[in-house]
Amino acid sequence: MRNKIVAANWKMNLKLSEGANLVNGILQGMPAISENCKVVIAPPYLHITQTIAQLKGIEHIFTGAQNCHSENSGAYTGEVSAAMLADAGVQYVIIGHSERREYCNEDSALLAKKVNQALAGNMHVIFCCGEPLEIRDANTQNEHVARQIEEGLFHLDAPQLKNITIAYEPIWAIGTGRVASSGQAQEIHAYIRKTIAEKYGAEAADNISILYGGSCKPSNAAELFACADVDGGLIGGAALKAEEFLGIIKAMVDS
Ligand code: 13P
Repeated sequence: MRNKIVAANWKMNLKLSEGANLVNGILQGMPAISENCKVVIAPPYLHITQTIAQLKGIEHIFTGAQNCHSENSGAYTGEVSAAMLADAGVQYVIIGHSERREYCNEDSALLAKKVNQALAGNMHVIFCCGEPLEIRDANTQNEHVARQIEEGLFHLDAPQLKNITIAYEPIWAIGTGRVASSGQAQEIHAYIRKTIAEKYGAEAADNISILYGGSCKPSNAAELFACADVDGGLIGGAALKAEEFLGIIKAMVDS
C-alpha cells in the first residue's frame, strides 16, 4: 500500500513563536494515524531546529524544508545546503515549487541537481509540478507536467525513485481559492502515474505517492483524497491554522 501524505508548506509566514504555537496546536489535535499515513511540516529555514525539537520522538510527523541549494557547500551567500538540512534532522525537502520556479528562475536542470543533493543527504523529496492557467486553457497540461517530471526526475534510477513523492499543484489554484475539481485532479494524477510507469514500470508507479496542492481545505480535501490517484495534499494557506490543517489530516486518515 502506498503512503498517504499531508504536507504543510508554510511558505514565508509566521514568526518563531507563532510557528511553535501552530506545531503545538497540531500535536494536541493529532488523530491516531495508521502506518502508511504521514504528516510533514515544512516551515521557513529559521524555524527548522525549533520544529525538529517539537516533533522529536513523535511518530508519523516529520520536518521538511521548502528548498535546498544545488551545491553541497561553498561561497553561496544566503543559501542552505541539503547536507546542512540533513545534519539538522530534516527528513523531507520540497523541490520545484512553482513560486521558486517563477520568482527564483529555477529551471529543470537546477532542480535535477537539487534533487540529487537532497537524495545524497538521505532525505525524501516532494517534487512539485503544475501548469499555469494558459496551459490549462490550451488543454496541454498533461504534456507540460510530464516534461517537468522527465526533466527533473528521470535521471534517477528505480531505487532512488522510492525517495520521491510528486506534488501536482496547478498554478491557477495556488492561493486563489479556485481548487481543481476532483475530476481534473484524478485525470492528471493518473496521467502522472502512467508517465512514471512508462519509465520505471508498473510497480514503481503504483508505489509512488502523488499529492494535490492548490486551495486544498478541510471542506474539499475529502473529495480530492477519495480519488484513486490522489494520495494526499501539499497545503499552503490552510496549513497556517491548526484547526484547518487538522481537518485536512483527518480527511487523509478517513480516505
Ligand atoms: P495554497 O494551499 O495556499 O493554495 O498553496 C498551495 C501550495 O502552494 C502548497 O505548496
